[in-house]
Amino acid sequence: MSQSFARHRRLRKTPAIRGMVRETQLHKNDFIQPVFVTYGTDVKLEISSMPGVFNFSLDRLSEEIDEIVSLGIPSVMVFGVPEAEAKDSVGTGAYSDQGIVQQAIRMIKQNYPELVVIADTCLCEFTDHGHCGVVHTHEHDGHIHADVDNDESLVLLAQTAVSQAQAGADIIAPSNMMDGFVQVIREALDEAGFQDIPIMSYAVKYASAFYGPFREAAQSAPQFGDRKSYQMDPANVREALREAESDVQQGADMLMVKPALAYMDVLRVVRDHFDLPLVAYNVSGEYAMVKAAAQQGWINERGIVTEMMLGLKRAGADMIITYFSKDVVRWLREEWV
Ligand code: PBG
Repeated sequence: MSQSFARHRRLRKTPAIRGMVRETQLHKNDFIQPVFVTYGTDVKLEISSMPGVFNFSLDRLSEEIDEIVSLGIPSVMVFGVPEAEAKDSVGTGAYSDQGIVQQAIRMIKQNYPELVVIADTCLCEFTDHGHCGVVHTHEHDGHIHADVDNDESLVLLAQTAVSQAQAGADIIAPSNMMDGFVQVIREALDEAGFQDIPIMSYAVKYASAFYGPFREAAQSAPQFGDRKSYQMDPANVREALREAESDVQQGADMLMVKPALAYMDVLRVVRDHFDLPLVAYNVSGEYAMVKAAAQQGWINERGIVTEMMLGLKRAGADMIITYFSKDVVRWLREEWV
C-alpha cells in the first residue's frame, strides 16, 4: 500500500495519545451556574420547562449554593423572581436595597465569601410590563406601540448596578441592551467607590426565541411588543462587532455573546477581534431542548452536553454560563471527558 497519504489515525490510537493532542479542555473554572431566587419561604420549585433547575426562596438558597461550592464551581449568576405585586412600571425592585437580588447577594457573600457572585443588571424581571427599561406607550391605528426610552432607562440601570455592588456583587453583568449602558454603569460604579468591580457586558445579545423557558422561570416575558428594538437581529454578525467595539470603548472588562449554540460564528469573530475575556451564555432554550430529548431517551445527554461545551470553547469562549454547569463539573470529576 502506498505511503503517500497522511496517517491521521496514528494520533488517535489510545486514550492517552488522544489526551496529549487534545486542543481544547474543559475545566471547572470555565463554568458559571445561574441561580434563581424568589420570594416567600420554604420554596424549592422546579421550573417546568427546565428540569433540574429550581426557584429557591432565600431561606433555602444555601442548599443550592452548598452544592455549587462543594463542586468547586467558582461563580454564580443571580436572577431574581419577585412577586407580581412587587412589580411596577419603573422596576423599583431592581434597585431597591431590599430587592430580592440584593438580599440574595448579601446572604451568599456572608456565607460563601470566596464564591464570585455575578449580578445580572436588568429591569425586566421587576417591571410590570416585562421590558428591560422605561416604557412609553402610544396608540396608533388601533395598536399600542411601546417605546423603551434609552436614556431614561440608563439612569435606573446605573442605580441597579450600584445597589448590586453595595450588596456585595463581585461582577456586574448588564443584560439590558440599552445604548451606552457600560459607560453609564462604569461612571456610577466609580462614583460610588466601586472602581474595582468589573463589568461583564452582555455586549452581543440577540432577540432570541431561545430565552423562552427563562422568561417562564423569571416571569419576565414582555406583556406587549417584543425586544427587537433593543436586542439584536439574529441575521447580523457585523453588527455584533459594532456592539462589542462600543462596549470595549466604554470600559467593559469582559464581553458576552448570547445565545451560544446558534451563534458560534459570532463567538469566533468576537474572539478574533477583541482581547477581552469572552463569555458564552448557553441559554434556557438550549438547555430545555437537550433535557427534553434526553427525557425521551433519544440522546445521550452527557455526550451531547460535553460536545456542546467543547464546541463553545473551540469557537472562542473562555467562560460558559450554563444551567449544565453542575452536571459538567460532576462529570469532569469522574474524568469522563
Ligand atoms: C434579562 C435576561 C434574560 C436572560 C438573561 N438575562 C431574558 C431576556 O432577555 O429576555 C435569558 C437567559 C436564558 O434564556 O437562559 N434581560
